[in-house]
Amino acid sequence: MDARIVLLGAPGSGKGTQAKRLCDKLKITLISTGDLLREAVRNNTPLGASAKEYMDAGKLVPDELVIGLIEEKVRGLKGGFLLDGFPRNLEQARKLDTITPLNMAIDLEVEENLILDRIVKRRICQQCNEVYHLKARPPKNADVCDKCGGELYQRTDDSEATVRERLKVYRERTFPLIKFYDDRGILIRVDGQGSIDEVYRRILDAIDKFEREKGGRPPAP
Ligand code: AP5
Repeated sequence: MDARIVLLGAPGSGKGTQAKRLCDKLKITLISTGDLLREAVRNNTPLGASAKEYMDAGKLVPDELVIGLIEEKVRGLKGGFLLDGFPRNLEQARKLDTITPLNMAIDLEVEENLILDRIVKRRICQQCNEVYHLKARPPKNADVCDKCGGELYQRTDDSEATVRERLKVYRERTFPLIKFYDDRGILIRVDGQGSIDEVYRRILDAIDKFEREKGGRPPAP
């Protein structure tokens, strides 16, 4: 059965960093609502214009905008996929169940006191969205992407005040998804602390263990 995975975790827990590597390894499609929304903002589309004020304030973009985006991406998709940033609340999770139920939810657990340092030192490639960290994963040349040579930038929602708001929204709206997927028997908890390579290895081991225990990936709920 195709893997249909969501990567859960607080802002800065490493979802985007690990999502790309996992999708390459598992040969599945990455769907990141944050990346899709930032692209819409950059291209000044109607969706981007509506989403920008919410994103800059650290709030969730309204469900009707985001669900439409995901529905368009997921429907008709061949093979497995990994969602980064969706669902973000119980309403989105229930809606996703009616479109395509997931069979794995991986929660990256990171203590909040590490989050701020990770986020304020983050840099992202304008062109290919590759994620860097000035200390943990620095680019070889300052402000230039190692992969494609694109210019690196800092996200407008990565200021300390906005990160604090995003963490609050995470606790109130997104955290309940952990129980939601645990109740469905598809939750995998992974320690998201340590080096990027260590966390990656831990996730692969946890997926392997989960699949062995279930005797193959579990049926959809
Ligand atoms: P989104 O883009 O999804 O942001 P987020 O969930 O806040 O997560 P981040 O991208 O900040 O962190 P991450 O976990 O991906 O960490 P990363 O790998 O980059 O959403 C942004 C906004 O869009 C939302 O606030 C909302 O407005 C809107 N939105 C998106 N989806 C939505 C939805 N479904 N509904 C409504 N609104 C939605 O890592 C962070 C840094 O740490 C990097 O610099 C990285 O290099 C470094 N790092 C990673 N791992 C390690 C490690 N192990 N050790 C040291 N450093 C590390």
